[in-house]
Parts: sequence; structure tokens; C-alpha cells
Amino acid sequence: MNMQEKVIILDFGSQYTQLIARRTRESGVYSEIHPCTITTEELRALQPSALILSGGPASVSSPDSPGIDAQIFNWGLPILGICYGMQLMAHVLGGKITPSLDREYGRSELTVQHECPLWERVSGAEKITVWMSHGDHVLTPPPGFTVLAKTASIDVAAMADVSRKLYALQFHPEVAHTEYGDEILRNFLFHVAGLKSAWTMSSFVDSMLHALPAQIGDQSVVCGLSGGIDSTVVAVLLNKAIGKNLHCIFVDNGLLRAGEGEEVVGYLREHFDLNLHHINAQNKFLSRLAGVTDPEQKRKIIGHTFIEVFEEEAKKIPGVTYLAQGTLYPDVIESISFKGPSAVIKSHHNVGGLPEKMNLALVEPLRELFKDEVRKVAQELGLPDFIVWRHPFPGPGLAIRVVGEITEARLEILRQADKIVQHELMATNWYYKVWQGFAVLLPLKTVGVMGDERTYEHVIALRIVDSIDAMTADWSRLPAEILARISNRIINEVKGVNRVVYDISSKPPSTIEWE
Ligand code: XMP
Repeated sequence: MNMQEKVIILDFGSQYTQLIARRTRESGVYSEIHPCTITTEELRALQPSALILSGGPASVSSPDSPGIDAQIFNWGLPILGICYGMQLMAHVLGGKITPSLDREYGRSELTVQHECPLWERVSGAEKITVWMSHGDHVLTPPPGFTVLAKTASIDVAAMADVSRKLYALQFHPEVAHTEYGDEILRNFLFHVAGLKSAWTMSSFVDSMLHALPAQIGDQSVVCGLSGGIDSTVVAVLLNKAIGKNLHCIFVDNGLLRAGEGEEVVGYLREHFDLNLHHINAQNKFLSRLAGVTDPEQKRKIIGHTFIEVFEEEAKKIPGVTYLAQGTLYPDVIESISFKGPSAVIKSHHNVGGLPEKMNLALVEPLRELFKDEVRKVAQELGLPDFIVWRHPFPGPGLAIRVVGEITEARLEILRQADKIVQHELMATNWYYKVWQGFAVLLPLKTVGVMGDERTYEHVIALRIVDSIDAMTADWSRLPAEILARISNRIINEVKGVNRVVYDISSKPPSTIEWE
């Protein structure tokens, strides 16, 4: 996409790099993350309006630490170095770095010593609480640089060569614990680099409505519609961009929860003139899953079967050359990150291998967006709240929430219990406060008593979590009355269940799904 202004963030391996990108975008400035191994020519070709050098775990004094071409500092580009980025800037431009006596982690008090555009709306506050995480620090700034701030343990906590628009911070302005962190970043973007706040989701939709027809021409596109927000937004955007040349395929795998998918698909059918292929493949999926209890095997069977069913249907559509996918920016970052892709804990990729197998080119209109931006696009496209704020639902569906063997009877118990969870979360408005909430059917029976009778029946676990991006999560502190009501209703209304438990594990070390 041709953006007028763009900040390039060079990733030196910090765990906070994504946060820098999110903060700049929240300020209305488009930003992209690139690995620090990018060549100088590649970087120039991106035509950055400003550069941010991220933090990272390395030490500039070690021989194999990642570096940067000193020429880049002569381009006249506004540059902000953060933590390792600061040390690298100092090192490359002739300053001195030293290992700290004590590694500084966590909160520090910053004292501003020198006025500059970075401190606008910040100074006046004598001391600012900032978040540090570093081993080395700058002892002597490079020639031409002024010290802007210090902490109790380091004398050069921020520095700048104002005339060359080179700024550097030892602390992390992008983390929420840093007071005025947003202001400091915004000051860099707007007052130092002179950028405008022009990145909005309506400008994104406009640019996509031009870019997609230009990319696709009069070719046909297939799109797997799952009922989740990402694929729904892809479908609606493409529908607006290329109309009838878009073919959406909705595969009912028999593993959907009550109403899941159908609600969204029904809405789209009613409000958008979509080419929608509704495939009923329940028997195929359930017969292949019969007797399978291993979670990874379940995921693999579902993944392969999905590809098979999807491919069979897509082949019936004449002239298809593109596959549309709801890839988001965090997936893109993971594949290019400086540390490389992280270890696969569960195989998440629902349609992995499909494009190569069918020889299709990819259309990924959301690959530059974070999840919160996708939600804004959905609102921009006029989609209703029940789609915009829909909880994530995994590709393998209820198969990974029926722990152990999957049978139609066990799926039905889970569906009924889950329907109550969804209903109560909605009725109390907690649906919109939590990241995800659902029921899990456990592979064990326990003893209970109903009336005068002993029962020996199934256990349902409730998994309700708070999260920002599903990378980490914590169990939601739902009011006890709501938990009590959900539990009472499940035990009274769902035949075959006599016990409900609440999952109070965080991620890590647990995961959100049980399988
Ligand atoms: P875990 O269980 O790894 O889940 O903590 C993190 C988030 O991802 C969702 N999830 C999936 N989504 N295909 C998907 O599209 C999958 O195979 C899959 N497995 C887990 C999960 O619901 C949570 O939001």
C-alpha cells in the first residue's frame, strides 16, 4: 500500500517492539516493523518518514551483536533509539558505552535536565516514573549530543542531537508503566518528525477499495468464511471491492457451537449480496475424528479435511486464481521477527498449505492490521456489534473443547452448556468485558446427588479469560453470583451434567483452549 507517511521500526529483538508499532498507530501514524538485518538499500526503498530503533537483548560491545549502517544517521531522517537502539546510536556515532554495575529492571525515576521538543507537555513534572530494562548504558554521548535526562543510577538516560533530529531514550516510552510515555512518543512523531495524524481506518478502507480491484482485476477469489471477525471483514471488504467475483465458502464441520457461524453467515446473506457456498461436511469430519483423543491428531485431521472439502468446492468455481485470507499483522511480524518464529505450541494454522496445493495467489487485505484495528474496520464497514466484538473461536472448533473422544452426544452436551455460558455473559454484559468465555467438556464422570438419587455424570469446566492479544491471559474475576447462575443453569438444564468447575489458570503456563 502506498502510504504518504510511514515510520519504520527496526526490530533488534525487544519483547516490546510490537507495542511501539501499536502506540504509533494509535497516535494516527502508520508504522511497520522490519528486522534489523534489513539492508541499507531495502530500508531506503521503504521511504521512511522517521525511524525508531527498538530495544533488544544484545550488548553493543559483543562482537556478534546486531549493528546498523552509520550512513543512515546522515540521511536527515528523524531517528529515535530506544534502549539497545540508544546504545547502538551512541556506539556507532562515537559515544562510550559501559556495562551497568547493577542491571536496572523495572521502575526508575527520571529527572529531566534539558528542555527539548520530546518533553513538551511532560516537563513541569520534575521527576517522571519510567520503565527500564537494560544491562549497558551510555557513559559519554557522541559528539554533538546533549544529555536530556538522568536517573539515580545513570547520567545519560536520554540524549539528543536536536539539529540532526537524532533522539535516544534508555527507558521504554512504549510500555504503559512509563508515565507520559505516550506523550513522549507523540512528541517525537509530531514535534520532532513533523508527521501528521492521518492513519485512520476510514482511510484504510478507502485505500483498500482502490488497491484490491487493481491487484485482482477481473479474476475470481475464494474466501473461507468461518463466522469469525477476521474472515468476515475480509469477505465484506472484498465484496465491496470486487462484488460477484468473490466466492465465499462456509464449511460446516459439525464442530460449531450452537448458532456459531450461522448467525454471522445469515446476517451477511441478508445484508450483503454475497456469493455464498454453504457446505455441509459434518459427517466427513465426525467420521474421521471417531475414536481420536490426541489433541494434535484432532487438529491435523480437521486441518486436512478442511483443505480437502474447501479445495473440492473451490475447484467447481471457474477461473479462481486467488485465495483470500484474514492474516493479521502479528502473524506477519512473527514470521519476520529478528528472533525468528517462536516455537509451535499448538498447530494453529487452519488452512496451511492450501495456496501452494491449489496453486493460488494470496490476497491478505488485513495483513497490515492489529486486531483492534480490524474491529475498527468492521465498524467502518457498518457491521453490527455482535460481529465486531465476537469472541475468537478456534478453527478446530468444539473438537478441542470436548476433551477426549468426540461423539455427537458429547458435542451436544457441550453445545447446550456453552449456550448457557454465552447467554449469561451477554445478559450481564460481561461478554464485552472479557476476551473469551466458553465451556469445556471433560473426559470424566463424577458422583452427585439429585433429589434422592445418586448420579454419575459429566463435568463441565468454564474457561473465561481476560487478554489483550491471546499471547498472555488471566482468568476473569467474574462476580460469584454470575458464576453461580451459570453453574446452576448448566446442572439443572443440561441433561448428563452434574458438576461445573471454574478454570483459574493463567497463560502461561496454561493455554486458553484445553487442547
Ligand atoms: P491458546 O489455546 O493457544 O489459544 O492459548 C490462543 C488463542 O487462539 C485461539 N486458537 C485458535 N484459533 N485456530 C484458530 O484460528 C486454532 O487452531 C486455534 N487454537 C487456539 C484460541 O481460541 C485463543 O483465542
